[in-house]
Amino acid sequence: MTHIFLYGPPGTGKSTIGKILAKNLKLPFIDLDQVIETNAGRSIPQIMEKQGEPVFRDLETDALKISVSPLPVGEGLGVRERVIALGGGALLREENRAVAESNGKIVLLMAELETLFQRLNGSRNKRPLLAGDLREKLTSLLEKRNEHYSSFPLTVHVDGKSAGENARQMQITLGRHHLSAMGEYDVIVGDVGHALSVTDLQTSIIVTDENVARFHLEKIKSVLPDAQTIIVPAGEAHKNLETVSHLWKSFLENGIDRKSTVIALGGGVIGDMAGFAAATYMRGIDWIGVPTTLLSMVDASLGGKTGFDLPEGKNLIGSFHPPKLVLADPSLLLTLTDRELRSGMAEVVKHGIISDPELFELCSRGLDWVKENLDQIVRRAMAVKIKVIEEDPYEKGIRATLNLGHTVGHAVELVSRFELRHGEAIAIGMAAEAKYSARIGLAGKGLVEAVEETLSVLGLPIQIPDDMPRDEIIRAMRMDKKKNAKVIRFALPVEIGRVDLVNVSDLESVIASAEET
Ligand SMILES: NC(=O)c1ccc[n+]([C@@H]2O[C@H](COP(=O)([O-])OP(=O)(O)OC[C@H]3O[C@@H](n4cnc5c(N)ncnc54)[C@H](O)[C@@H]3O)[C@@H](O)[C@H]2O)c1
Repeated sequence: MTHIFLYGPPGTGKSTIGKILAKNLKLPFIDLDQVIETNAGRSIPQIMEKQGEPVFRDLETDALKISVSPLPVGEGLGVRERVIALGGGALLREENRAVAESNGKIVLLMAELETLFQRLNGSRNKRPLLAGDLREKLTSLLEKRNEHYSSFPLTVHVDGKSAGENARQMQITLGRHHLSAMGEYDVIVGDVGHALSVTDLQTSIIVTDENVARFHLEKIKSVLPDAQTIIVPAGEAHKNLETVSHLWKSFLENGIDRKSTVIALGGGVIGDMAGFAAATYMRGIDWIGVPTTLLSMVDASLGGKTGFDLPEGKNLIGSFHPPKLVLADPSLLLTLTDRELRSGMAEVVKHGIISDPELFELCSRGLDWVKENLDQIVRRAMAVKIKVIEEDPYEKGIRATLNLGHTVGHAVELVSRFELRHGEAIAIGMAAEAKYSARIGLAGKGLVEAVEETLSVLGLPIQIPDDMPRDEIIRAMRMDKKKNAKVIRFALPVEIGRVDLVNVSDLESVIASAEET
């Protein structure tokens, strides 16, 4: 069972943040101090005063064991995972630490002395260990426990952030999200083998492509030995009705029924097609997304869009059919070619520009740094998309900000006859749209340079190829969203971390800006 434990000095907000985290992840919340008080029938200050600290610690150990036990400890808790806020010294006892470590993940919340002092100043009488000169007591407590607290590898620094922001930061650190705006599903970042081994799937069928099968199928089969497998040819050219029909027929031949689960192991092409086949087979069956490209991890696997291409255009047939679970394992990305990784990085840069300046800064460290830190990149970039689609699942407003770079980008991709990878085209699109944003006075000083520099350092293109006919690009832009649209809604960058939606009719000007150096 992977419970989530919040630990750290008093005043870091373990209970407040824990409650928000539990709500976000749709998990039950337990405050260990409350369990102790309920079991003892008196408050913690009373226990300390009447029975002393050693008895309190014994009660704490008992409460911890009850809280992680599979037996119901309260209404409806059953055997589910829980978010558990621990007391500030609860894991000093080795026994307690062993219980927590073997039952889940511990996240340490840390704060500066001053933050703790400000927060605790009003409630000092509820904390017997801090009675007296609060600043002095806190200083000595932090000194005494410094080595202990430093020994927990997962840490979130809470200073200067709201409880909601800290809960979100915890989700990024843990790689845990629950989406509920369209369908209900968890998104987990981590080892896919482990994550699949704890799901209780009935029959399942893995859909993958020939490249991914070569590198990663064995790992998945080792945890799901009974799963059937369908391997299809790789690439966008096969994201068509013929392949989808082949999937439907193979599902039938393999006895897939309404209780079965499709596992989409691959990039965006596999996710879109296997998701669509699952959406339509027997009026819809469950599927799990296991994205294997950076683009599919941070973008395509999130949001529930499935579909395939017609000869007349991309993604013309499709449906919204969210998966039951998305498992993103950044180690699967190590077998990607540099070109595929770069292409995915364009979407990551986009997420940074939309709402995460820190992520944008990480991108500017270049591809070698990214390769060494894929885990961090994936966690942050996924969190941006999840936040946007949770707020606006059906693209009525803010979701349109995800189109940054895509109006010019899609057109350039199309006119290149898909010679450019999607991310390469989006990089060109972002550079062009940033320049247009500066031309109309929207983008702040230095924005264009920052966007171009970061894309270049990653090895992504920023110029429309010289030989690409400009009038074809403009025509493709008008055709992209709506036939011959007069006005097109652009997502234009204002600063790193902010994008505005702007209606544009003068597309010639957009392309002219892109030519400026
Ligand atoms: N549903 C959505 O919301 C959404 C969003 C964005 C894009 N998309 C779709 O996603 C598709 C593009 O996705 P993509 O870029 O992942 O393309 P892709 O699925 O074609 O994968 C790119 C290439 O990488 C190979 N590959 C995949 N994982 C690998 C790995 N771990 N190691 C080695 N090789 C690997 C594939 O075999 C393929 O050759 C497009 O069809 C696009 O329309 C969908």
